[in-house]
Amino acid sequence: MTRITVTIFLALLSFLSHLLILSTQQEQQHPDTVHPNCSIGNGTYTDTSPYHNNLITLLSNFTSNTTDDYGFYNYSYGQNPDTVYASGLCRGDVTPDVCRSCLNNATRLLPHNCSNQKEAFLYYDLCILQYSSSSMFGIYVDPDFSYAFNNPEKAADADQYTDALDRLMKVLKTNAADGGSDRKVAAGNSSTLSSGQTVHGLAQCTPDLTEQQCDDCLVNAISGIPLCCQNKVGGRVIKRNCNLRFEKVQFYNPTVIDPIQVLPPSQGNNFKSRNIIVIIIPIIAVAVFLLLISIFIFLKMKKPKEAIQNSFVEADQLDGEIKHAEIIQFDFDTIKLTTDNFSDSNKLGQGGFGAVYKGELYNGEEVAVKRLSRDSGQGDREFKNEVMLVAKLQHRNLVRLLGFCLERGERLVVYEYLPNKSLDFLLFDPDRSAHLNWATRHQIIVGVARGLLYFHEDSRLRVIHRDLKASNILLDGELNPKISDFGMARLFSADQTQSNTNRIVGTYGYMAPEYVLHGQCSMKLDVYSFGVLILEIISGKKNNSIFNENSYGLLDFAWQNWRQGNGSNIIDPLLINSDSRNEIMRCIHVGLLCVQENAIDRPTMASVGVMLSSHSLSLPVPSKPAFLMNSTSSILKDSSSEATRSSEGRRNYVQASSNEVSITNLSPR
Ligand SMILES: *[C@@H]1O[C@H](CO)[C@@H](O)[C@H](O)[C@H]1NC(C)=O
Ligand SMILES: *[C@@H]1O[C@H](CO)[C@@H](O)[C@H](O)[C@H]1NC(C)=O
Ligand SMILES: *[C@@H]1O[C@H](CO)[C@@H](O)[C@H](O)[C@H]1NC(C)=O
Ligand SMILES: *[C@@H]1O[C@H](CO)[C@@H](O)[C@H](O)[C@H]1NC(C)=O
Ligand SMILES: *[C@@H]1O[C@H](CO)[C@@H](O)[C@H](O)[C@H]1NC(C)=O
Ligand SMILES: *[C@@H]1O[C@H](CO)[C@@H](O)[C@H](O)[C@H]1NC(C)=O
Ligand SMILES: *[C@@H]1O[C@H](CO)[C@@H](O)[C@H](O)[C@H]1NC(C)=O
Ligand SMILES: *[C@@H]1O[C@H](CO)[C@@H](O)[C@H](O)[C@H]1NC(C)=O
Repeated sequence: MTRITVTIFLALLSFLSHLLILSTQQEQQHPDTVHPNCSIGNGTYTDTSPYHNNLITLLSNFTSNTTDDYGFYNYSYGQNPDTVYASGLCRGDVTPDVCRSCLNNATRLLPHNCSNQKEAFLYYDLCILQYSSSSMFGIYVDPDFSYAFNNPEKAADADQYTDALDRLMKVLKTNAADGGSDRKVAAGNSSTLSSGQTVHGLAQCTPDLTEQQCDDCLVNAISGIPLCCQNKVGGRVIKRNCNLRFEKVQFYNPTVIDPIQVLPPSQGNNFKSRNIIVIIIPIIAVAVFLLLISIFIFLKMKKPKEAIQNSFVEADQLDGEIKHAEIIQFDFDTIKLTTDNFSDSNKLGQGGFGAVYKGELYNGEEVAVKRLSRDSGQGDREFKNEVMLVAKLQHRNLVRLLGFCLERGERLVVYEYLPNKSLDFLLFDPDRSAHLNWATRHQIIVGVARGLLYFHEDSRLRVIHRDLKASNILLDGELNPKISDFGMARLFSADQTQSNTNRIVGTYGYMAPEYVLHGQCSMKLDVYSFGVLILEIISGKKNNSIFNENSYGLLDFAWQNWRQGNGSNIIDPLLINSDSRNEIMRCIHVGLLCVQENAIDRPTMASVGVMLSSHSLSLPVPSKPAFLMNSTSSILKDSSSEATRSSEGRRNYVQASSNEVSITNLSPR
């Protein structure tokens, strides 16, 4: 009888307490309450300003990439100084659909709630949205910023509850920080020592933070718990880059985030495998890490400096460079917009590494966007190589690099746009080449020579282009030449003049014999290619053109005619009536000096510059160009056809030169 009464009484009590909990839960923050903060700072905009337009454009399509499903969106839009940066983070356990719905609500509300504020932040139950006029990506922004809410219900055994919460938050912090570059979130529960309560928690950082930044941010957030939520069963601390929440009920969806269970210390013997793993993995990780460090130090002390691979030296130098290079990092969506989603009508051409598109930036500036194909075999390192070299090298005869984009596997390089396309487009077309009179062609030869001289001697880095050819010479509105496509250029430290490369990169017909046959790479390689280019510019013929059954292409044809005193046969008929015949013949002479078989005989670009500018200096007699012997020619022809086959489907920058092929990844035999 009494037992039944007690049971009924207990049931009633439990029912009442549930009612109480429900009512207090209703008293706490309504889940959909919007918490905007419009007073972060950094000024205001007007409704007619570019910033306003950029903001609207950016937010209107903020979640349109439906393949981005890890709950973090960060984009920017617009040109300096009106660029808008925005990022959205969903709670780690929400599904992509709910996440987009939440962020869509947020993108509608925030500019409205914080009208005309350049920088604003909004916290929803399930997502956070913020935008700013300065970049936030990878930055632990505004450590003092903090929102905190509590669930007003008091914890039954506050000391034990707080203790369980502390243990939980330490574990969640470490696990969230450890979460990789897509997601940094952890959830779990922790039980009190003896009062049988459980606290559930979730901690999260924006995934663009480093592990250390995330850890710092969460330490900061955790330190806010006593201020807002001392002795309360629940609370939330929200910072710009991280947030945490705890409740006595499981408020998150445990099927999306695998919860971590933290047991009180006295139950150490009953540790389940998960907890053991939680503890043992870091121990093993630390041990392995220490071991690796010692091995590394040991090897480093043992190995002489020269033994460190060349590639490391290069990488280090590159890393040092990008810090100083002033280039814009575009976001993928901006580029997509400017190129009309990489439409065919915007396509300028297709190179060995990918297609080139024309785009127009917000400010009306026209750009050429090179979208590197994912299967191009060009790794992150080559990409950075290109970006950093071009950004660093600035000269009027080099194509200017404006920026790049490296985002979710996409690699894009943004160059200035040159309306007259590439030299081969004009030179090898009978109609278009009529626009290239001798004065123009001479200007192109001299300009390319200046660009190369800059590469070889004047720039702080010594650079070998390695793939100089007509399709890599772009022309500006005044037909000034600008050398492009530095992707394959290699860095040279100041005291090095020659290195054996482990990769052949270049285009047959323009490549010097020592490079094709032995992989030897020196500045004389570019001199050789330049010589081929001079002869092409003067003759209007491609180096692989067939002239007659007795010649093996342009070099052979030029050499034979030159030796027989028939130099004018080499000259493009369009130039024959030019009154600059002497100057043309002198350029042929220089061209033949550049393509001499023996690299040592070829002049440096500095001497080429002197030879081209002086009319009186007497020039040495050229020796035989490379690739005239039947044997060498057949080697060339064999490897050339093989290479063409292996890179089938690749076409060059401009369609006019589709039969020239850039070759990479071809190891010298
Ligand atoms: C305001 O903008 C400037 C430059 O744009 C930036 O350096 C600064 O950190 C920003 N301030 C805040 C509070 O974001
Ligand atoms: C936004 O997306 C819609 C549909 O995907 C598209 O029609 C529109 O052009 C996009 N606008 C911007 C500014 O990207
Ligand atoms: C969308 O995002 C995914 C992954 O984040 C990325 O691979 C894809 O290229 C993006 N698509 C567009 C159209 O931006
Ligand atoms: C977004 O707003 C709509 C309408 O106000 C609402 O039905 C929906 O639940 C909201 N989504 C989220 C995730 O809050
Ligand atoms: C934000 O805007 C929404 C919709 O207009 C409004 O309901 C809400 O009260 C606003 N919140 C604040 C804090 O201004
Ligand atoms: C908004 O953020 C600023 C700076 O972080 C802070 O000083 C201010 O108190 C916050 N405002 C509100 C309403 O929370
Ligand atoms: C988004 O964040 C990633 C790091 O998580 C960063 O690499 C990327 O540049 C950011 N996006 C934009 C548009 O800057
Ligand atoms: C705590 O998390 C563990 C692991 O997911 C789960 O098995 C357990 O049921 C949770 N405890 C409570 C009280 O929800």
